[in-house]
Amino acid sequence: MTTRRKKLSIITLGCQMNSHDSEWISGALANEYDYTTDRSQADLLVVNTCAVREKAEEKFFSLLGRLRPLKAAKKGMVALVAGCVAQELADKIMKREPFVDIIIGTRAIGRTPLILQRFHETGQPQVDISDDSAFDDYPMRRESEISAWVSIMRGCDNHCSYCIVPTTRGPEQSRPTESILDEIRGLANKGYKEITLLGQNVNSYGAGLAPAIDFPGLLNKIEEIGVVERLRFVTSHPKDLSGRLIEAMANIKSLCPSIHLPIQSGSDRILKLMNRGYTSASYFEKLDKLKDRVKDIAVTSDVIVAFPGETDDDFEQTYNAIERAQFANIYLFKYSRRQGTKAAELMGAIDRQVVSERFNRVMDVQKEITRAEHLRWLGATLEILVDGPSKRDIKRYSGRTGQNLVVNFSSDKDYTGQIIHVKITKSRQFSLEGVLLQL
Ligand code: 5AD
Ligand code: SF4
Repeated sequence: MTTRRKKLSIITLGCQMNSHDSEWISGALANEYDYTTDRSQADLLVVNTCAVREKAEEKFFSLLGRLRPLKAAKKGMVALVAGCVAQELADKIMKREPFVDIIIGTRAIGRTPLILQRFHETGQPQVDISDDSAFDDYPMRRESEISAWVSIMRGCDNHCSYCIVPTTRGPEQSRPTESILDEIRGLANKGYKEITLLGQNVNSYGAGLAPAIDFPGLLNKIEEIGVVERLRFVTSHPKDLSGRLIEAMANIKSLCPSIHLPIQSGSDRILKLMNRGYTSASYFEKLDKLKDRVKDIAVTSDVIVAFPGETDDDFEQTYNAIERAQFANIYLFKYSRRQGTKAAELMGAIDRQVVSERFNRVMDVQKEITRAEHLRWLGATLEILVDGPSKRDIKRYSGRTGQNLVVNFSSDKDYTGQIIHVKITKSRQFSLEGVLLQL
């Protein structure tokens, strides 16, 4: 007699780190559970949470309220909360929503099968927010068969004054180099074309590892094994962006011409209060060097408006920085007060209307910059990695350029997972249109 395999469903909120952690949770349970997108059928329902801004946290609590009846309707469904809110607010979650059975912190994911077993044995709610120090080998059930995330470090030691991440994800820890290279070899064998190295601050990769290595050193080692067609990384901290990294980006063929380099603010006064460790001038020095050395590089950024005490003058400096930087795109945030951070103790909250005005002004100017950035590709021949067909039309496909721009095109043949050439014929706000070239 075959036993029925159980079903697992995961709702992922937040950043790429969380998406990758969800792949890990799913991988850790792959022996017992198949994945389903139908939440109502799940034997195990996981919510992987984000705490970076208050809105994300509120979104999670309201989602949790909506999941309560879902669990009540399915006999035996187990509800598990993971991620940054789990790490930070385990007690609050259990008190507010006692239907939650298991809470797993950001560094206890590797123990998920064990914790689940303990829950089934005891019937008691389980909370594990302790630190699993192993960080080298983990099973993954990946969403894509073309592009894979590879975690190279976890945690963050930067303590930007507004940010809760160092609290929720703990101190920085680099993954052993051989373990990263092994995973990449395995992915290439399975046919993966694109690898994105993941970490809160990849530029400080290597601290504490023996033998000594830094991030450009890791990139060179990956290039040496010669199996990766497209290599990317997120996120880079400007203060740790070295000349060596810029040279690596200029010289390593598989590295895509794209970098996410969060500026956060254009005002030195605010950057200091944010504890970012660079000035506007030193940021631009590095940005100019990058643009000079890496042909057609697309730089994206994060920007926070209305940090406590941000004056009109501080804001104008941010606005001017955005105009000057000509980022391919930005993620723009309104400052959100996070209990327990240094910035939460600062006076000078900004009036809500002013916050919105500042947000909209930056949004508008960036929209124009992005539009112009897209327009400059008109007529160009670009290489794209095809992600797959569109959901609505099987003859329409989408792919991404090295700059990570989305290109849509029509084709009778399915080139999913292949790198092909297209000529850009139209530019839109969020994507480009191309025609397939037979080169
Ligand atoms: N408020 C607003 N934005 C924040 N970020 C991090 N913490 C906060 C906060 N408290 C933004 C930063 C960071 C990105 C991931 O989220 O811009 O780079
Ligand atoms: Fe947060 Fe700064 Fe670390 Fe990024 S580098 S996770 S913004 S503390």
